[in-house]
Amino acid sequence: MSLPVSRVALVAVTALAFVTNVGARAQDSAGGSSSVKVADEGRQVYEQICQACHMADAKGGAGAGANIPALANNPKLADKDYPLTLLLRGRGGMPWFTDMLSPEQMAAVATYVRSHFNNYPDPVSVEDVKRVGAARPGPVPDCTTCN
Ligand code: HEC
Repeated sequence: MSLPVSRVALVAVTALAFVTNVGARAQDSAGGSSSVKVADEGRQVYEQICQACHMADAKGGAGAGANIPALANNPKLADKDYPLTLLLRGRGGMPWFTDMLSPEQMAAVATYVRSHFNNYPDPVSVEDVKRVGAARPGPVPDCTTCN
């Protein structure tokens, strides 16, 4: 798959910012409360990754030469599997995030986007992420061909 260079650069920059921030947060919480609230986790992932393209108000826009859809007031998000499918597989100008976000972070950001920018309050769980990921179509690597 070939990616436009501008998009690769953008994702690399947001990924770096994200990693830096996670390190800072782990340090901040040392000795303090170890519980990271899911809502905070979702908001942080949104602000550090998604907002670069979908914008702070989640109304989308046209960045990096791509047309970015709004996530706010988006009826497609009524189905919790929908954002997970995008996060797990990507589509068009939307990268997949399986190598950047843990299942917990995908669940948290999907919960955040659905509840904060829409009115779908039921949480998305790690089990939902795993279920949608397992339903991935296409050939499963077969290790009888590995050696
Ligand atoms: C590099 C830019 C970029 C980043 C970062 C990004 N997206 Fe997207 N996103 C897109 C583009 C472009 C589309 C449209 C994809 C298409 O249909 O071709 C999209 C589509 C979507 C859709 C489907 C919307 C619809 O109406 O069909 C969802 C849901 C979504 N993104 C969620 C997220 C979440 C959550 C994050 C953060 C983890 C995120 N995106 C990060 C560019 C991005």
